[in-house]
Order: sequence, then C-alpha cells, then structure tokens
Amino acid sequence: MTKSQPLWAAQQESAGSARPGAQPPSGERSSTEKPGGWERKAELERAARINQLGEMTAGLAHEINQPLAAIIYTLTGAVGRAKVGALNNAQMLEVLQTAIAHGHRAAGIITRIRGMAEQHVPDKTRMQLGEVIAEIVELSSSTALRRGVRLRCEAAPSLPAVLADRVQIEQVLLNLIMNGVDAAADARGRHVEVVVSAELASDGIIWVSVEDSGAGIPPGILTRMFDPFFTTKAHGMGLGLSICQSIVGEHGGTIRAENLREGGARVCFTLPVEARDAG
Ligand SMILES: Nc1ncnc2c1ncn2[C@@H]1O[C@H](COP(=O)(O)OP(=O)(O)OP(=O)(O)O)[C@@H](O)[C@H]1O
Ligand SMILES: [Mg+2]
Repeated sequence: MTKSQPLWAAQQESAGSARPGAQPPSGERSSTEKPGGWERKAELERAARINQLGEMTAGLAHEINQPLAAIIYTLTGAVGRAKVGALNNAQMLEVLQTAIAHGHRAAGIITRIRGMAEQHVPDKTRMQLGEVIAEIVELSSSTALRRGVRLRCEAAPSLPAVLADRVQIEQVLLNLIMNGVDAAADARGRHVEVVVSAELASDGIIWVSVEDSGAGIPPGILTRMFDPFFTTKAHGMGLGLSICQSIVGEHGGTIRAENLREGGARVCFTLPVEARDAG
C-alpha cells in the first residue's frame, strides 16, 4: 500500500471542509492574529455549524418522509380498494407487509441517527488494530462472498497499540468495507476484491486503508461523499461515511477518499498510536 500520496492533500481539504467535525481543532489565538480576529473566526464557525445543522435536518426530514409517504400511499390505496370490495386477503397481506417494510426503513433511519448522537462519548481502551481488522474482515467475508467479492486483510504484523473505542472502530471498518463491497460487486470483468490494510507511518500514525476494485468514485462526488445523507445508492442512507468521519475525528485522526490509478477507490483513515507505544 502506498500512502501520503500528493492526491490526498487536495481531497482532504475538499472532503473535510464542509463538515464541522473535520475542521481543524480550534486552539488558542496565535500571536500573529489581530485582536477581534478570533471572535470573528468563532462567529464564522458558529454560522457554519448552524448551516450544517440546517442541512442535516433537511436531509433527515427528506429521508424519513420517504418511507412515511410510502406507508400513507400504500394504505390509502388499500383502503380505497377495500371499500369497494376489491381487496382479497392475499392482497391485504401484501399491502400490510409493504407498509411494515417501509416502517422498518423509517425506524432504521432513526436508529442510525441515535447511534450518531451516542458516538460523541467514545469508550477508549488500548487495542491492537491488526486484530480488530482481521476479526472484522473474517466476519464480513461471507457477506462479501455472497456478492462475489473476495475480502483480504493485509494488516502489517505487530502494529503498536492504539487507544480507541473498539465498537466505533469496528463500525468504521464495516462501513468502509461495505462501501467497497458495494462498489466492487457493481463493477464487472475484473478481479473483484476489497483489501483492508494497515501500517505504521514514520510519524507514529497508523494508516488503515480500504481499497476496492470497483468503478471508482465518480467525479464531483469526492467533495460531497462525506456529507450526511449524500448517497448515490437506491437503498443507501448516505450516513456511512459521515459516521466514519465523526468517529475518526473523535479519535484524533483524519479520513480521506481517492481514486486509484489502476481503477477502484481507496478510503483511508489515520489513528494516532497510543502515547506509550509511540516510542
Ligand atoms: N468505495 C467507493 N467507491 C465508489 N463510491 C463510493 C465508495 N464509497 C462511497 N462511495 C460514494 O459515496 C456515497 C456515500 O457513501 P456512504 O457510505 O456515506 O453512504 P451509502 O453507502 O450510500 O449509504 P449507507 O448510509 O448505507 O452507508 C455512496 O453512495 C457512493 O456514491
Ligand atoms: Mg455506505
């Protein structure tokens, strides 16, 4: 795996800048900053956060409205047909099952939003990233294989420990793997695989990378794919990458996406090594 490619730099800016979680941490005022400049900066950051909240709320309303509208439409049609005796038991059952499925979709959206809110207090413990990656790869392998995608783990042996919330890191890995599997399964005529790798960079940071043999990220999407509710999938919620970005940010890392020269995409995130292992 190669890392720190120049391609990253531009994408880090664009992928991260739209979201408050990706802003550089607001530190003390620098000695070169003009008096009043800091207040202005804080004001702008606050405005950006409000703007972000507005976008999220609009996206959420849209997402939940879709299954609710489908439930109303399905049941209203069925009531109309039942009134004139044009709905037999089997048809009634089908209508009810459709309504339940839409209801589950709305509930699923709420569950994931709740998950996002809860993620703000990570329960960090010392853990070996290589082991976590191997476990998640093994757990997801059969799902990937059912879709014709081979999943491989290439984590470097004896990586130093990280201080992280295991469940959250598993969630990040799963989201990235599933995106890779979706992309690889959709592409045809090539070796179809997703490779998860991890290695220690010289600056004491671990890079985890998920590469796929899919069609790559369409132009114009690189800057929006981390936005909440941005999706190009018929049944996607557009929350996976947004959740990954906030979790990685909470752990002091960054996450970026790029297209590979040989085709396919790579999403890569960093995690700082636990202080006593940084050596
Ligand atoms: N590996 C990839 N290759 C190509 N496009 C990708 C890849 N990963 C993400 N994307 C694009 O980014 C979008 C957002 O991804 P994200 O994981 O946030 O949501 P999603 O997969 O659509 O839905 P879900 O909420 O179920 O994860 C995807 O819909 C897809 O267009
Ligand atoms: Mg996803």
